[in-house]
This record gives sequence, structure tokens and C-alpha cells, in this order.
Amino acid sequence: MIRLENVSKNYKDKKILQNINLEIQDNAITTLIGESGCGKTTTLKMINRLIEPSSGTITIDGQDIRKKNPIALRRSMGYVIQQTGLFPHMTIRQNIELISKIEKKDPKKIKERTLEMMEMVGLNAEEYLDRYPSELSGGQQQRVGIARAFASDPKIVLMDEPFSALDPLTRSSLQDELIHLQENYHKTIVFVTHDMDEAIKISDKIAIMDGGKLVQYDTPENILKHPANDFVRTFVGNKRIWTSPNLIRVEDIMMDHPVTCKPNFSIFYCLNKMKMSHVDTLMVVDEKKKLQGILYASSLTNVNYENKKARDFIENDFLSVHPEDSIIDLLKIIDENKISTMPVVDHKGILKGLITRSSLLTSLSQQFLEKEEQ
Ligand SMILES: Nc1ncnc2c1ncn2[C@@H]1O[C@H](COP(=O)(O)OP(=O)(O)O)[C@@H](O)[C@H]1O
Ligand SMILES: [Mg+2]
Repeated sequence: MIRLENVSKNYKDKKILQNINLEIQDNAITTLIGESGCGKTTTLKMINRLIEPSSGTITIDGQDIRKKNPIALRRSMGYVIQQTGLFPHMTIRQNIELISKIEKKDPKKIKERTLEMMEMVGLNAEEYLDRYPSELSGGQQQRVGIARAFASDPKIVLMDEPFSALDPLTRSSLQDELIHLQENYHKTIVFVTHDMDEAIKISDKIAIMDGGKLVQYDTPENILKHPANDFVRTFVGNKRIWTSPNLIRVEDIMMDHPVTCKPNFSIFYCLNKMKMSHVDTLMVVDEKKKLQGILYASSLTNVNYENKKARDFIENDFLSVHPEDSIIDLLKIIDENKISTMPVVDHKGILKGLITRSSLLTSLSQQFLEKEEQ
């Protein structure tokens, strides 16, 4: 774990970073995001000691990095920057192998690793290894930058806006590849960006910075759903969650208080309750709120319900969803089964809410209403 404790940075009397406290988890992608000049690069460069803090402490696995040799520390981490940082007078192979050669690793192993890295970033080794950086496109150069950062198998990889200068299509495919290679290599990646969509897509945790301060540090989902303050709210944007529908969960859009009845309630009472509440279904629950079934008004027409109870007309064979299911799963089930009422139950079968076609429409249309207000 990389830990920043009360880290501040001043240039003369200008405060650049103020009391940053941050715990960066191993084997995860942590993103630093914020507007230009907020201190992202400064924070990143303090982790490999390209910049020293004015006060505060940075530790890696509990060890103060001031006690480490800065050159050795830097070599032990991968580092990818926007302008690739490839040496123009060296071939792709020489660029990728530089650190391993300095460290005098086994030449055979170095060669093998280079081929593995080229494959990892989707570049044909035979075609590209002997070329110079200027003979590659921007996207290809950035792939080489990533291959080089991973080549000496560092635990930590620092990436400073690595995709910002690329066209949107190339950027998007490199983001996909970063996610993919993280699944295989499990590095501790600290990634800087100013692009919220990019951060949401690739990050396990996002640290939002504003004017040299850390304003929120959480998962993409929690940041989208519970922005810590107005700055984050504006920065994230109200509609952003709709571009990541997999983060919208059933509990975010369900009605919390469905109209219920007990199995032993009389049908007469149940019909009256439906009428008063303007609903055409009742969720039938036991004393512990465990869902027993659904009572549909439609199954009560033209029947003699004198002395009959809810349990006599209950539909026991019903589909349900969990509060934490995503809206995408929900829509699939609704679509495949052509149903319009979907109870929400927890893992013990306790009724937590209800999704109806109209509650779904209301929440889906919200995004368009909010867009028009902009
Ligand atoms: N060497 C320096 N001397 C004075 N100010 C600096 C220096 N380096 C960076 N800054 C200032 O520190 C602030 C944060 O810079 P930086 O970390 O590069 O921001 P970001 O990466 O978020 O765009 C900026 O206002 C920048 O002008
Ligand atoms: Mg920067």
C-alpha cells in the first residue's frame, strides 16, 4: 500500500498541495482527477520522488520513501506520461529493455519479456521492435510506453494522463486494454486524468482533487451516487450516471414502500386497499415481511370472494430481483418475461421495494428532463 500522510507542497509561499491523506490500495487502479493545475502531477511525482513534499510522509508498505535511494525507487516503478517519454534515438526494443539492461538482468529473459510485453499491448514484435518511436502513430507509441513501464515487472505503475493526447477511438481502445492487462498483471496503478468518463471506466477508486486539496476518495459508484460537495457534483455532472447504467441499481429506482397485505386478509379488504392506494397489485407478506406472493386485481374479477382470503388468490409463482442488481439485468428480465410488476427482495426473501413499469419510466425519463434544464 502507498500511503500519503498529511502531505503538503509549497513553491515559495504558494500552497500547491494541502494536507493530502490518501491510502492507495495494492493491485488496484486508483485515479487522481481534477481540473488542470489542481496538483495531480505534483502528487504523482512525489510517489517516485521526482518531487519532494514540503511536509508530510509518504510510505510504501510501511516504509518511508525518503529512506530509499531515489534512483532505485524510480526504477522500481513503471512510469508512463502523456508525451510517451520514449527516447527518440533508441529503437522500440532499446526503449523497452533499457531498465532491465541497466539492472543487468539475464539477456534471454529480457528478450522473452519484451516479446510478452509487445503481445500484451497488441503490437506485432517483428514489425515494430526495430523501428524508432517517430515511425509509430501516437497510439502505438503510447502502447510502447505501457510495455516499457511493465517490462521490469514493477509492483507499482504511475501513469500521468497517458491517453489524453490520443483521438477518442484510440483512447477508448487503450482504456479497454489497460483494464484487460490489469486483470492479468494485477499492478498497483496510480493513474492521473482530467477525464471523468475515463476515470469511471478504469478505476477501482477515484481521488477527486480541487485546488491542492483532496475533496473525495471513493469508488466510482459512490462518487456518482453520493458526491461529497458541490464541486464534485458539478465536476461529475448530474447525468453522468446514465452513461454508466451498470452502476445504477434496482434500489436506486425502486419504490420503497409497496402496498402490502397479509395472506389471511379478506379479499374484500384487499380490494378496498387497492382502490384506496390506486394500485392493481398487492404484495402479500408474512409477519416478518417475507414475500409470499402477489395478489393481482385482475384475478379477482368475476369471482365469488365471499369469505375468501388473500391466500386463496395469491400468485406464488413470481419473479423478483435483488436491491443490488443492476438496472441492465432488471430491464432484461422485464423484457424477456413481458411483466410489468417486479418485487424487490433481499437474499432472505424479505420485501424491500417494488419496480413497476411506471416507476421505471419515471426514473428513466428523469435523465431527459434534467438534460433539458441544462
Ligand atoms: N516548479 C514549480 N514552481 C512553481 N509552481 C509550480 C511548479 N510546478 C507546478 N507548479 C504549480 O503547481 C500547481 C499544480 O501543478 P500540477 O501538479 O502540474 O497540476 P495538474 O497536474 O493537476 O495539472 C499549478 O498551479 C502549477 O502551476
Ligand atoms: Mg498534470
